[in-house]
Amino acid sequence: MKRNTLRLGAVTFALSALVFVGCADTMEKSKMMDDSKKMHSMDKMTKMEAAFGGEKDVAYSKKLWEQLKATKLNSTPATLYVGGPPHGAVREVLEGKIDGNRVIVKRNYGGEGVSIESVKKDREKFLKAVTIMIKKDGYDPKNNDWYWAKYKADGSLHQTPKGEKIAGKFPGCIGCHNSASGGDLVFVHNKEANADITLVDTMKKMK
Ligand code: HEC
Repeated sequence: MKRNTLRLGAVTFALSALVFVGCADTMEKSKMMDDSKKMHSMDKMTKMEAAFGGEKDVAYSKKLWEQLKATKLNSTPATLYVGGPPHGAVREVLEGKIDGNRVIVKRNYGGEGVSIESVKKDREKFLKAVTIMIKKDGYDPKNNDWYWAKYKADGSLHQTPKGEKIAGKFPGCIGCHNSASGGDLVFVHNKEANADITLVDTMKKMK
């Protein structure tokens, strides 16, 4: 009686070991298939349009720069404040609408002698970058549809060390802005934390 149970136990053990090995094997296979599928779709994506710096995104950055100028979103003096990296030492943030879309513009000032006072006197001298985010319906559903760009003072685009233009679904901007509270990749602005965003009446300015 006792021996029988033992034998049964051994058989069950051997069987379950077999089943287990079999499972691990198919699991491995399906993982490999998954990976190859993923690689395939990534391949397709790079062929279609890069996440940022592609032809369409760069063309749009040019159009948008003209619209920022026309609406004075890029020239209306706003509240200057001091902040930490990666944005400029002194900054100001403006918000308005372009083509009905919410756009937020941050003008970043830096360089030797930068201070709120010196920037107030000569904004152009210290302007290092204009970083913007504009919400475009359906543009990037996974990341709340923001289009990102980092302009130089003359409207051309900043580039990555690899020479890619910073315009579009730029992972550098998205990665950090994802941590903003409120769930829309926009950080809180108020007098206590930094400075209020200056709202620009772009509708009036367009006329
Ligand atoms: C390491 C984090 C980090 C990265 C990377 C980053 N930002 Fe920001 N950004 C911030 C923080 C924090 C604020 C708000 C604080 C402040 O400056 O007053 C901000 C503010 C902004 C604002 C004003 C609206 C808001 O959310 O407050 C814009 C526009 C902006 N960033 C654009 C960009 C763009 C474009 C890029 C990429 C080229 C970028 N940012 C990369 C941290 C980051």
